[in-house]
Amino acid sequence: MKIKLIALSATALLAAGCATTPSDDEYYAKAVSLMKAGFTDRGQAKVDRIDQDRLQKLCSSYESSPIPKDVAAQIEKEQLATIKYPADGKFLGDHKKGERIAQSGRGGQYNDDPKQPSGANCYACHQLTKEEVSYGTIGPSLYHFAKLRGYGPEIQKYAWNKVYNSHAFAACSSMPRFGHRGILTEEQIKDVVALLMDPNSPVNK
Ligand code: HEC
Repeated sequence: MKIKLIALSATALLAAGCATTPSDDEYYAKAVSLMKAGFTDRGQAKVDRIDQDRLQKLCSSYESSPIPKDVAAQIEKEQLATIKYPADGKFLGDHKKGERIAQSGRGGQYNDDPKQPSGANCYACHQLTKEEVSYGTIGPSLYHFAKLRGYGPEIQKYAWNKVYNSHAFAACSSMPRFGHRGILTEEQIKDVVALLMDPNSPVNK
């Protein structure tokens, strides 16, 4: 993403006949302002998504070198502190609804109705059930997740935490922060956690 932004701003600056060599930060700022000038909020797609938070800025700065252990540990601690727990203390919702949410790639796009809930698109990165013929492999297979790891409260809490804010366990994870970024509602996260944790879910069959 950063490379694309730099390429975009480089073209713009060349066109303007700029003779000096701006720094990466200047290229970046120019690219962000060009994108903000060229795009408007539409549907569920909001222009402020271009603005990186502290975590994203830090992870972008370690794109080409491994992130130092102490920096990663600090990020994970900060992200863990963002996690909110269900008001009724129950982590598990309805696994059938969870599967529909996990399979839906809708949400966050300009042609998505802001009044409609988002999907989670878990299948784009994970195998979840045996029936699924096509799934992504960016993340590990979650088939038999609870059958292998256990159904107890500790694993339920871990599944909640990971879905709510994946960066609490892997500082620069490519998995979206579904709860922290408000992609899914509390009820939707419960349903997705049930998909992972319910003994009757196709994940554990
Ligand atoms: C864009 C890719 C992507 C999407 C979408 C995604 N994940 Fe992940 N997920 C990952 C990656 C990569 C990991 C490996 C660890 C890490 O980097 O966070 C992971 C790890 C996990 C883990 C921890 C596995 C373990 O063995 O401890 C769970 C649980 C999980 N994801 C659940 C989900 C669920 C449920 C969804 C949908 C709500 C989802 N993921 C969506 C990429 C993704």
